[in-house]
Order: sequence, then C-alpha cells, then structure tokens
Amino acid sequence: MKPTGLAGWQRLARIATDRADTHLADTLNQDASARRIHLSGILFDFSKQRVDSEVIDNLLKLADEAGVLALRKQLFAGDRINLSENRQVLHPALRAGAPGIDPNLSEAVTQTQKRMHEIAALLRSGEWRGCSGKPITDIVHIGIGGSHLGPELVVSALRHEHTSPINVHFVANVDSNDLMTTLAHLNPETTLFVVVSKSFTTLETRLNAQSARTWFVERTNAPIDAHFIAVTSNIEAARKFGLDPANLLPMWDWIGGRYSLWSAVGLPILITLGADKYQAFLDGARTVDEHFLNAPSAANVPLLSALLATWNYNFLGAASHAILAYDERLRLLPDYLQQLEMESNGKSVNRHGESLDCDTMPILWGGVGSNGQHAYHQLLHQGTRSYTADFIVVANDEGAIEEHHNWLVANALGQSQAMAVGFKPESATDNHRSVVGNHPTTSVVLDALGPRQLGALLAVYEHKVFCQGAIWDINSFDQWGVELGKELALPIYAELAGSGEEAGVTQDTATRQLIDYLKKK
Ligand code: F6P
Repeated sequence: MKPTGLAGWQRLARIATDRADTHLADTLNQDASARRIHLSGILFDFSKQRVDSEVIDNLLKLADEAGVLALRKQLFAGDRINLSENRQVLHPALRAGAPGIDPNLSEAVTQTQKRMHEIAALLRSGEWRGCSGKPITDIVHIGIGGSHLGPELVVSALRHEHTSPINVHFVANVDSNDLMTTLAHLNPETTLFVVVSKSFTTLETRLNAQSARTWFVERTNAPIDAHFIAVTSNIEAARKFGLDPANLLPMWDWIGGRYSLWSAVGLPILITLGADKYQAFLDGARTVDEHFLNAPSAANVPLLSALLATWNYNFLGAASHAILAYDERLRLLPDYLQQLEMESNGKSVNRHGESLDCDTMPILWGGVGSNGQHAYHQLLHQGTRSYTADFIVVANDEGAIEEHHNWLVANALGQSQAMAVGFKPESATDNHRSVVGNHPTTSVVLDALGPRQLGALLAVYEHKVFCQGAIWDINSFDQWGVELGKELALPIYAELAGSGEEAGVTQDTATRQLIDYLKKK
C-alpha cells in the first residue's frame, strides 16, 4: 500500500486541514515536556513544532501502519533491505550496535578495526617512516561523497579534541585546483595518501589518486609503499594501482558510502583523536542504536524526528529543510547531511519500483549561525515559502570567549523564536516589518561538542533518514539517480579531450553548442 493510501495518512490530512488556522505563537506556552528528550549528551527539543498530542498520536499510528518498526527489526537482523542492490544494511555493526548479526561479519569488523588501530598508532608515534626515513607529518585523504564528507566533518568539528600533531587534508573534487592547492605546501617525503573509494572506480578519486601518485614519484623517485593506503571493497583494483596489500583496508557491500564513516573510511578520525576518543565517538553512535531499537515510539528520537518531518513536508507543505548550526566547528554539517538525507530519500519510486504519489525529501540546505542571519534569514523571516529548520546549539564550549558564546546562543534562540511567533505590526503602514512566523523548528542542544555527542548526533540523523524512508516506502540505501549524468559525461569528455572516441555520438543542439563553444575556447 502506498503511504497516501494508509488510513493514518488520510486522518493526518484531515487534521492538517482542520488546523490550517492555528499558529505556533498560540501553542508555545503549552506543556511540551514530553517533546524534550535527552539522549547521549544531547537535548532534542521538539517544542517548537506545529503539533499537539493528537497529531503525535496519529503520526505514531502512521508509523505502525507503514511498517517502520518491522523494517527496523529487519535492519538490525541483517536482512537484505536494500532491495535494488540485494544488500544488507549494517552500519550499526561498525559501532557494535547490531548485536544479532552474523559472527563472521563481526569478526571482519573487529579485524579491520585492529588493523586501523595498528596503523594509527604507528603514524601517531612517528614509527611509520616515509621513503627517506622521516615520520609522516601530513595525511591527504582522497575520496568523494560518502568516502569524504563524514571524515572531513568529524575531523574538522573535533579539531579541539585532536591529540596528534599530524595534519589531515581532504581532496575530493576532480577540479585539480583542489589537489594542487593542497599539495603545494606539502613535502612528499612526509606525506601519506589515504585513497578511499568503496568501488575504486569513482572518476574523481581515481584521477586524484593517479595525480597524487605522479606528484609523489616525480619528486622522490621512491616506491609508493610507505606513502599510500587504500580503503576499498575493490581490493583487486587497489592492487593494480600499485598499493602494498598490507596497506589495504577493506570495505564491505553491506556498508553504504554515506553510512561508512564508522568503518575504515574514518581512519583519519582515529588518527587525529586517538583510540579513547575514537571509541567515545563510536559509543555515542551505539547508544543511539540502542535507543532507536528499544525506546518506546513516543520517546524515540529518530522516529519522532522522521514523523515530524513527514508531518511538515507532506501535510503542512514545508518546501525545504535548513540545518542552522550555531557553532563554527559544525560548518560542514549541512554538506554531510545533504548527502545523507537527499541521496538516501530523494527518490520518486517506492521500494518495489512503483511511482510514489506524495512528495519525498525536500531540499536540505544550511550554514552556520550567526552568519546566516546577515544573509538568507531575511527570506526565512519574510519569504513566501514555508520551511523547517534544525537549530544546532552547543551549550558548553570550553574554548570560547564567554561573551561571544552567550551572544551566539542567544541569537540561535532568538531566531527560532522569531520563526515561531512572527510579528504583526499594529499599523498597515508598517507591513514591511511583518514576519509571518509559524515555521516549525527543532532545537538540538549538545551538552558539549565532544566525540560522544557528535557520534550520537550523526547516528540520530542516520536513523531518522531510515524511518523517513520507511514511512515513504523508499529504499534509502541505493542512489541510482547519480548514474545518468556520469554516463552522459563520457562522450563529452572524449570530444573535449579529442580522443577520437566521440565519432558517431549525437548531442542535442543545446549541449552541442556548448561543446563547440568550449572547444573553441
Ligand atoms: O556517485 C555517488 C556515490 O556513489 C556515493 O554514493 C558514494 O558515497 C560516492 O559516490 C563515492 O563512491 P566510492 O566510495 O565508490 O568512490
């Protein structure tokens, strides 16, 4: 049954119509203590959502009817719920959050983690020596999408927790400016490349790895063994690239790219944080796995987050979702969540390939506060489209100047208040000052920005995406939509590069003219 055919969906549609005239300003003083949940060092405060207990009860019934809890059981049991690729989905196993899985898989995870710890310890202690006998000072992580966004987010967000002087740089873009500006200041004798690609066929990563190898060999004339590591499920391709088999860390088909930062893809996180803090990062996520599996539905943070998103997107018409991170250290969070949420749930067919007749994931975007207040918040307060937002706030920032931090937090609260209550001027001559308000927001307050809280936060979003996909009956774990553009680029590349392979390829006129223009230039 499509979600729109469920009785709960239709009940919610009626409730939304009945409530069309209610405004958040009128509900903010109600008792919302049940909608403030503390989990693994984070307060999830849903009290600025446009819901009451009747809406919540009906959303919970919808979750039952949509089979969310049954699918959750299948997820943790290791069933092949990624139907289009016939794969299991077992990222919780990487943080010991899937206790019932096949012991062989657990053993593979344990062995890989052991090897990660060995490599990290050698690098951190300076025992890992480069071709000229010097210790490694810089690591260049080469990967894109899920093989990049998570590690870069965590390494940069937790910089204040680093316990190693090794610098980690990230290169993702096929634009060589990315690689070359990174390499410009590095010494090849003390640089280690970590090439991360589940498939080891991704264009950007393949090219960047090749160019990095050329850069290294041209400057040192030395074997690459001590300077290249790979994380991949395509061991054969990595070997062909010339990597020492001892320097290959495995990935498995049961880990999706955007869920892979808990695997060896997260090696730079371990190298920078050290073993104890890395374990705290995994533990934070595991606590959320346990909560997601065991907490009652009405107090289950990922489930509630997904249900509220459904309410907002499908019944209240929210057209986009903003991640407003009021902490400079979390500036990469919106980028990471764009892949997690939009690559997972930006779909228009259900798990069985049938067209969906409801909207699915809206555009997710965002940035850091307070900067955004001086740019796009004008639209958020006075624009014509409705939206939702997550305010991410850190309560205790030990390194901050107190006055700055208090202003930062005050601004976050003031903005979410304005988005809720709005402003109605007394006189029509002041209409240019009016603020509609009534925009639902969630406040996510981290006790502090530590490894445990960050691990928990990311796992909450992962499971929210899972629940959201289950409600829409979407396979959240494939990404077939990214393939077409890649294929169409092949003959265009051949033509631009003049390789002669383009003979016989016809192009639409619009594209043809652009190709010709670029060739002339
Ligand atoms: O093109 C999309 C994608 O397949 C993502 O899903 C993935 O995270 C990224 O490319 C990188 O893939 P790989 O790890 O195989 O290089």
